[in-house]
Amino acid sequence: MSLVLDPAAQDLLFREARTANTFTDEPVTDEQVQAIYDLVKFGPTAFNQSPLRVVLVRSAEGRERLVQHMAEGNRPKTATAPLVAILAADNEFHEELPALLPHFPQAKDLFFSERPARESAAGLNAALQAAYFIIGVRAAGLAAGPMTGYDAAGIQKEFLDGDHTPLMVVNIGKPGEDAWFPRSPRLSFDEVVTTV
Ligand SMILES: Cc1cc2nc3c(=O)[nH]c(=O)nc-3n(C[C@H](O)[C@H](O)[C@H](O)COP(=O)(O)O)c2cc1C
Repeated sequence: MSLVLDPAAQDLLFREARTANTFTDEPVTDEQVQAIYDLVKFGPTAFNQSPLRVVLVRSAEGRERLVQHMAEGNRPKTATAPLVAILAADNEFHEELPALLPHFPQAKDLFFSERPARESAAGLNAALQAAYFIIGVRAAGLAAGPMTGYDAAGIQKEFLDGDHTPLMVVNIGKPGEDAWFPRSPRLSFDEVVTTV
């Protein structure tokens, strides 16, 4: 009763949405990915720094290069998902900052002139954007399978560069046969929330 979001949308995004481990062959189009991005890009980040970068792995050759860096148990689903996205944090996001924050362009030099400060901010804010992206995949009627079970250095070397840190690899598609593990419990409100 307290939520204004339509209950069907609540189910689509959260209650009935699951992390898929198998997928059908139905393709995921560039138009779908663009629609997802054009929705979730409005999710908030600090100073609007928007450090998420996405590499879509579409080619068979790219898929092969990616699978070899995945943990053993993640390989079959990474090999067979219709689309796989590598989500990364751009540690040099400050270059875009004056354009992204036109009312406060000094933020670039005031807060982000040092690389460690940028890495810390990029890690947090790109992770936030990765979460928005997963929910966006669900909003498109698709299932996401995020994974961090991989050789991060290998993925960085193979697909990114020294300025981009891998955050997660996400399988995307329509869920296939036996797509889910049993739903695991979640912590209750009382276990998580305190009020002072
Ligand atoms: C950041 C992140 C990393 C994950 N890494 C893996 C992984 O390497 N392998 C895997 O099988 N599942 C992985 N998962 C899937 C989680 O176990 C799953 O999303 C969680 O248990 C909730 O499942 P549910 O959506 O079906 O309730 C990952 C999920 C997230 C969000």
